[in-house]
Amino acid sequence: MPTRSRPVAVATSVVATLLVLAVIAYLAVITGAIPANADAPPGRLETWAAKRSLRATLARETSGLRDPVPANDSTLTRGVHLYGTYCAICHGASDAKPSAVARGLYQHAPQFAKDDVTDDPVAVTYWKITHGIRLTGMPAFDSTLTADERWTIANFLAHQNDLPPTAKAAWLALPSAVQKP
Ligand code: HEC
Repeated sequence: MPTRSRPVAVATSVVATLLVLAVIAYLAVITGAIPANADAPPGRLETWAAKRSLRATLARETSGLRDPVPANDSTLTRGVHLYGTYCAICHGASDAKPSAVARGLYQHAPQFAKDDVTDDPVAVTYWKITHGIRLTGMPAFDSTLTADERWTIANFLAHQNDLPPTAKAAWLALPSAVQKP
């Protein structure tokens, strides 16, 4: 083969390979070979890609965020009540018993009474509440809760294990997320 045409041949085979892969991916989507059901554990590749991408996004977008809400007994109590209204259906109350909704989610929603996020920076939790987590059941609350409410809930989750008395009593009194007939 003359040396001049070598790069052309390589480029042609790269393009052909990419085209074949694109066609395979397209066929996998339109034939339903990529599963669309929620009652199966997520694949390893999917989990890896979702986690890496989330970590990179959080690192980029949370560095400038500052919590404007002071964490005291009154704001933390408010955080518990907001959490009870908007989050407990998926993340549970202090009994850590998952609701039917939580149990049916494709990516399991952590029950915060046993798998808490107290180690996460408040800004990270605020970001997740605000923007949600793509491809999971975690909703974005940016258009439904005010920034003040989102920080207030994030503060409660950060202080979940060292709540002052009134907030602690409110947390323990939150009704279980398990639906009763
Ligand atoms: C419809 C169900 C649902 C509701 C309602 C919901 N979440 Fe989630 N949430 C999820 C799921 C599912 C995940 C797991 C996502 C994943 O695996 O990455 C999640 C993840 C999270 C995480 C990350 C947990 C971790 O370990 O990193 C935080 C923080 C969180 N949610 C906070 C909240 C708060 C606060 C509310 C209420 C304002 C809320 N969520 C409402 C389903 C929900």
